[in-house]
Amino acid sequence: MPMGEPRSVVITGASRGLGFASAARLYREGWRVIAAMRRPERDMAALREATGAAEDDERLIGVQLDLLDPESIAAAAKAIGEAWGGNGATPYSLVHNAGISAAGMVEESDPALWQNMFGTHVLGPVALTKALLPAMRAAGTGRVVVVSSAGGVRGQPGIAAYSAAKGALERWAESMAGEIAPFGLGVTVLIAGTYDTDIITDAGTTDERDFDGPYARMHRTIDKRGRFAVGNLARPASKFTDGLVRALDDEAPFRRRGVGIDASMLLASNRFLPAAGMHQVSRLVMGIPRQGTMRNGQVPLTVSQRAMVAAARILPQPVLMKLATIMAERAANKENPAKEKNDA
Ligand SMILES: NC(=O)c1ccc[n+]([C@@H]2O[C@H](COP(=O)([O-])OP(=O)(O)OC[C@H]3O[C@@H](n4cnc5c(N)ncnc54)[C@H](OP(=O)(O)O)[C@@H]3O)[C@@H](O)[C@H]2O)c1
Repeated sequence: MPMGEPRSVVITGASRGLGFASAARLYREGWRVIAAMRRPERDMAALREATGAAEDDERLIGVQLDLLDPESIAAAAKAIGEAWGGNGATPYSLVHNAGISAAGMVEESDPALWQNMFGTHVLGPVALTKALLPAMRAAGTGRVVVVSSAGGVRGQPGIAAYSAAKGALERWAESMAGEIAPFGLGVTVLIAGTYDTDIITDAGTTDERDFDGPYARMHRTIDKRGRFAVGNLARPASKFTDGLVRALDDEAPFRRRGVGIDASMLLASNRFLPAAGMHQVSRLVMGIPRQGTMRNGQVPLTVSQRAMVAAARILPQPVLMKLATIMAERAANKENPAKEKNDA
């Protein structure tokens, strides 16, 4: 590409979260950013405010895109085609970032959820990519980046629809890398770690879990551990953008990168541990009971319940009574935090 020419990047899901942070960062670094989002008329204002870009700035262009709507995809591809080669810019890269999440066991999940998952993460992105590849091939240089997750590296219990869709997203991107490399194009799969965006919150996730059904025992433990992990691991969305900037500079025909320590550790252990070992690691981390322990409606004890049973065997009666009182007080305070504040 001639020196000084801005590179163009299309980012889907640029209205908030990782896509918003990425669009703002790349704009600041001199890219021509085509921010694809469901409601540009509402959400472009925040992006312009974050970047200081004026409404008529040719380096920050909003395009309407709903990945579940074929007409919207076709119109977006047309608008992107007109925008990303304009003003001396080179159509350079396409970042598939938009995504949705959902929690629930396979048995609990609605078929419509699976359709939306695959529409958003696979079918929509494939259709958009198909429409844009001719311009990318003509440019003879550029990259497609897909944003995957731990759920795309391994099938994760409790989020099967999300995991399956992310796995499919990774595989089609990997297949396509082999097809488009001879034309000078490359593909990077980014495995995002945990970032502080809506998708990791209750409000940003479709919840299909049944806390009264046969999986209730597992939901309670997975939920508790998940909240603890997210609370400790989640980093600001802006930190993710370093990984995207590196991905856009990748030169290899195909790369798969972890962004964040949690994602990098998962990729490393997935490389070294056999599949059966990874299954056990994830079972232990999530607190899922051993194989067969829930047969015939049995409800196995949690780790803390087992610890209490063991303690009851070895501790003297007065110490046990004291411990029970402390725990009862803690449980009561948890249910009524205002009381805890007043007591303090
Ligand atoms: N945050 C994390 O910890 C994490 C970890 C691993 C992977 N990821 C992946 O990172 C990507 C970005 O997620 P995020 O954390 O930024 O989540 P987010 O804050 O919930 O943002 C999701 C984005 O996707 C857009 N979107 C959803 N459905 C769409 C559709 N049908 N058509 C077009 N756009 C759609 C949303 O648009 P609206 O504003 O219109 O709803 C929003 O811009 C996702 O692919 C997610 O799976 C995130």
